[in-house]
This record gives sequence, structure tokens and C-alpha cells, in this order.
Amino acid sequence: MRRAVQGWPYEFLPVMEEIVARHGDVVRIAFGVPVRYVCSHPDAVKQVLVDERDNFVKAGPDNEVIRSIIGTGLLTSDGSRWKRLRTSAIPQFRPAQLQLYSEVVAEECEALADRWEKRARTGDSIDVCPEMLRFAISVLGRALFGVELGHHLHELVGAFRTINSEASRDPTVPVLPFLWGEGRARYRAALRTIDRICAEIADESAGSSGTLLAALCDGPVNASTARDHVKNFLFAGHATTASVLSFLTYVLGREADIARRAAAEVDTVLGARPVRFDDLKELDELRRICQETLRCYSPVWHMPYQSRRATVIGGYRIPARAIVSISPYLMHRRADLWPEPLRFDPDRFLRERVRERSPYMYIPFGMGARRCIGERLSTIEITMMLAVLSRRFVVELLDDEPVRCMPILTFRPDDRLRVRVRPRSTADGRI
Ligand code: HEM
Repeated sequence: MRRAVQGWPYEFLPVMEEIVARHGDVVRIAFGVPVRYVCSHPDAVKQVLVDERDNFVKAGPDNEVIRSIIGTGLLTSDGSRWKRLRTSAIPQFRPAQLQLYSEVVAEECEALADRWEKRARTGDSIDVCPEMLRFAISVLGRALFGVELGHHLHELVGAFRTINSEASRDPTVPVLPFLWGEGRARYRAALRTIDRICAEIADESAGSSGTLLAALCDGPVNASTARDHVKNFLFAGHATTASVLSFLTYVLGREADIARRAAAEVDTVLGARPVRFDDLKELDELRRICQETLRCYSPVWHMPYQSRRATVIGGYRIPARAIVSISPYLMHRRADLWPEPLRFDPDRFLRERVRERSPYMYIPFGMGARRCIGERLSTIEITMMLAVLSRRFVVELLDDEPVRCMPILTFRPDDRLRVRVRPRSTADGRI
């Protein structure tokens, strides 16, 4: 464990993978505070997230860090407040609403591709992560809150990035790192920026009826509550989606065969026209590529909960008030569950193969009552982006080395992920 901490952030998860391979389904980590139990088996997923749901709450240091950033909202609340918010938010993610959001998504995908095409002409490389962060946050601002972020976009993305890295400086003490040290001023300034911009978004969105914010507020609420709803959704929905999109771009650059398969399906289903909501059900190869990307690179690499009462998981006694962390990342990379786990193989998600395995084995969006409410929206974003990139470009990585990954608040590639793109028309449509 010392090696994992010393090698933070790059070595942390690879060492955890070794520990899980050696010690099994539930691993007690007593290094640092507090002691935690890391679970990576489908039975533990079912027990914690479904069967004993009421025994596990969003408390403990990791959740306190998140709450100190985004306040109380759907992501960070529990009990009756959470239930009320969840019930109010669900209608905003029904198919008719998703179809409307998909129009925003399609526009933003094409806008990103237009910018990339200009870079292709000038021969400039593309810094993938910030591009995808801006895309994801623009989509959320427009689709969920009816607000164009305009000049706030760069500032907001920068502030969230600062928070992400400063809050994850040391894996053993998730609360303390930003109470002192040089990062403190940066961190506090970023928090103020996020508060200010999210308050403006809430203000602007409050003028429209039928929005997510109107549903969550359900009558008059004070300004800071409305702002915290915006913060909860932007926080939960942007870095996660942007991370998958960055990894997806990496996959297109690294796996020539996958890129070819994606382009072939897009050529057959779409030809030269832009992707639409109704096309998504036809793009089965793309669905599988997206799902395999989420298996290999789950942005939510762990879900920490606190036990209210003592219980037993996988034969281990778990005391009350212990941190129980479900790790999609570790479970998705276990060789006993996923043969050759490091091989990128979308066919693992052929429908007949999915039917053969436990649904608790694959949980990029969590499971049970608190499963991600934005799952279908982000699936639309990811699939549409894959369609647009595959239709318009050949992606080339600038670096031959495997991508370096960081399990900070959200698991993501590090900043060295840069690509060049060639328009497919100038590549004779071939890959
Ligand atoms: C690939 C993209 C995404 C991934 C991998 C992801 C993953 C997750 C996971 C694993 C959870 C459960 C956390 C837990 O149980 O502790 C969750 C919850 C949540 N997600 Fe997502 N998410 C993504 C995109 C989005 C988007 C686009 C939105 C915005 C609509 C969103 C909003 C939320 C919210 C509000 C919750 C809390 C739900 C609740 O507690 O009732 N997510 N997400």
C-alpha cells in the first residue's frame, strides 16, 4: 500500500489492482485515515448498492470533500431529501426530454469537430481533455439549464480542474490537503469562481419554466439552494463524461481496427449526414465500443459509502461507521471476471454475452436506487461524439506510449493526451 501512495497518482490504481488480485473481493486498507474496505466483487455490489441500501449513506471524508465543493443537492444528499429531489428530477430524463437534449448534443459535437477541422488545416495538435471538458459543460448548461455559458466556459472549466487536482493531492488524507499549503489560495479562488458562475446560471435558468432547476426547486427557494443544484449537476455530469470522451479519442488513435469498425458502421448508417437521436439504436458497434471504453476507463473509479450498522461483506466483518468503497474500476479489470481484462474488446458487449453475466459485474453508472440519473444523457453524448469523430476524422496520437491515468476525484487521462486529426475526406475516406 505504501507503494501505491508513494506512486500517487499514476501508480495508485495499478498497485490496487495487484492488491485485489492477491487479497480478493474485500480489501481492508488501514493505511491513512480512515480505514476503508474496498470491494470489487459483484456480490458486494449487490449487497451494498441494492440489498442493504439503507445501511450505507454518503458520509465520511470523501463525501464531505465533495459536499464542501458543491453543497447539498441530488448527488450529495441522503434520506427523504434525496428521495424528493430524485423524484422531481426523473421526468427531466424521460425519452421526450432526452430527444430534445440530443439536438443540443449533436450541435455541440459538430461545433467541436468544426474547431478540430480548422486545427487539422493549420497542422496544430489538439489538447483533448480541456476540449472535452468544455464540450460536456456546454451541453449541460444548454440542455439542463437552458443557459449558454459563453465567456464563462473557460473560467468554469479551469476552476473545476483546479478543484479536482488540489482536492486529490494526497490519497491518504482526502480532507486536509487544501487546508494549508500553496494550493490553498488557488483552491479557494476556484471555489469562489464556481459559486459565482453557478449562481448566475441558476439566476438565468430561474426565468424559464419546465427546466431541471424548476423541477428541483418546486416553489420558491433561496438563491444558494438553487446554485447548489446547478453545482451538483455540473460537477456530477461534466468531468465524468469528458473523461470517457477523452479516453474514447485515445482508443480511436491507438486501436486502428476499432477506428475502422466504427467508421464502417457510421458510413453504412449515416453516410455523410450528421447523426440524429433516431440513429442511435442502429449504431450497435458504436454502443459496444462506448461500453468497452467505460469498462476499461470507468470515470467514477470508486464509490465511497459509510455503514450505519455493522454488517458482513464477503465473509468480512464491517464495523458501523466504516468506509465501504465500491470500485467499478477494479472490478472491471479483474482477470477472473473479465478474461484478458487489458484487451480492448467491444464484443464483450454483444447482447448474448451481456445476458450470460451478472448485471452487477459492470457498473460504470453505479447500481440500484442511486444509479446515475444522467446515464442516458451521457450515453447519447458519448455515442454521438464517436459517430461524429468517426465520420469526419482519422485520429493520430502524438505520443506512442500508453496513456497515463490519474484517479483524482474523477479518473481521467493526464494532460499529455494530445492528438492530430486528418479529415477523412482528405484521407480518401479510408482509415
Ligand atoms: C460517463 C458519464 C458518467 C458516469 C460514468 C457517471 C457515473 C455515475 C455514478 C457511478 C453514479 C453513482 C454514484 C454513487 O452511487 O455514489 C452517478 C450518480 C449521479 N450522476 Fe452520473 N455519471 C455520468 C454522467 C452524468 C451526467 C451527464 C449527469 C448529468 C445529468 C450525471 C448526474 C449524476 C447525478 C445527479 C448523480 C447522483 C444521483 C443520485 O444520487 O440519485 N451523471 N453517476
